[in-house]
Amino acid sequence: MKKVPFLNFAAQFELEREAILGAVTRVFERGDFILGKEVEAFEQDFARICNARHAIGVANGTDALIMALRALGIGPGDEVITASNSWVSSASAVALLGATPVFADVNDDQNISPDAIEAAITSKTKAIMPVHLTGRCADLPRILKLAGKYGLPVVEDAAQSVTARIGDLTAGSAGTIGCFSLHPLKNLNAAGDAGVITTNDDKLAATLRLLGHHGLKNREEIVRWGYNSRLDTLQAAILRTRIPRLESVIQKRRTNAERYTRLLKDVVACPVERAGEWHTYHVYVIQCERREELRAYLSERGIDTKIHYPIPIHMQEAAQALGYRKGSLPNTERQAQRILSLPVHSYLSEEQVELVAAAVRDFYSK
Ligand SMILES: Cc1ncc(COP(=O)(O)O)c(C=O)c1O
Repeated sequence: MKKVPFLNFAAQFELEREAILGAVTRVFERGDFILGKEVEAFEQDFARICNARHAIGVANGTDALIMALRALGIGPGDEVITASNSWVSSASAVALLGATPVFADVNDDQNISPDAIEAAITSKTKAIMPVHLTGRCADLPRILKLAGKYGLPVVEDAAQSVTARIGDLTAGSAGTIGCFSLHPLKNLNAAGDAGVITTNDDKLAATLRLLGHHGLKNREEIVRWGYNSRLDTLQAAILRTRIPRLESVIQKRRTNAERYTRLLKDVVACPVERAGEWHTYHVYVIQCERREELRAYLSERGIDTKIHYPIPIHMQEAAQALGYRKGSLPNTERQAQRILSLPVHSYLSEEQVELVAAAVRDFYSK
């Protein structure tokens, strides 16, 4: 293993072995492998931590986005405004429904710019889909205001930002629908694919439940075409055991992030927290010069880093038909050359964080 790995699943399992094996055993003993008690209980726990009225488990975060847009009736001819510096799902979910993803540029903090959103609104716009990137909320207060002004629903792509807050708004429960991924790399992580949708709207919640479960009203009656996209019961059981530790996991990430920022802010651009913000540091991203050289330098010293994400979605081959070109989204493109994610997970020691920071400082002192 590297001296400083980007993640440490083995350390996580060491802490949780008994709880996880107990949860898995319970599911096998009951034999309710689809939906059932564990999924229901997890949904209640998840709704609570997100301050949402409803949480609906689904198979993964991408399905959460597809189903959210579908529940809002979005389809061919419609436009959805989102960010291009995200994981591909933020755009593919729109495109897979036959609608058009429209990319708005981002601010220095990597989150979507409300001014750019407003400039992108047309008569075809049917939803705003901000991405709460890196573990922090986009500018929700301003985005919600815009949504009110133009009468648009807000689908929050909160895949990276479970329990992130800005003021009294919690990611996923401030807009119309919130979409989460519980992929193994996320702060609240399953042992495989998993996702959740949140909403405060009873009608939408009922539609989303039907959509994810074959459109079944009961065992026999199908009231609309639906997907087979349920949260796996084994995953729900595992996730339930992890919810009680989530706050301390995030607190540890925040402590690591604070240490990085203190040690590095005079050599690279570090994330700056806004007043009233609770950043959960799904990733700790610096913006720096000579990124590839720095990355290689750190790798030679046993320090693992990642880039989230090196090619913006609008510059991917899959997005060619959308008509964007180099220079369409200057901030997004500039940041793609400069961003680097340092390991920030909760199993790092103080020494490991200091080692990473010292190596970054060393690199720039040469
Ligand atoms: C911002 C964002 N949106 C959507 C997704 C899709 O989630 P999943 O991988 O669970 O389908 C992810 C996670 O990979 C993500 O980071």
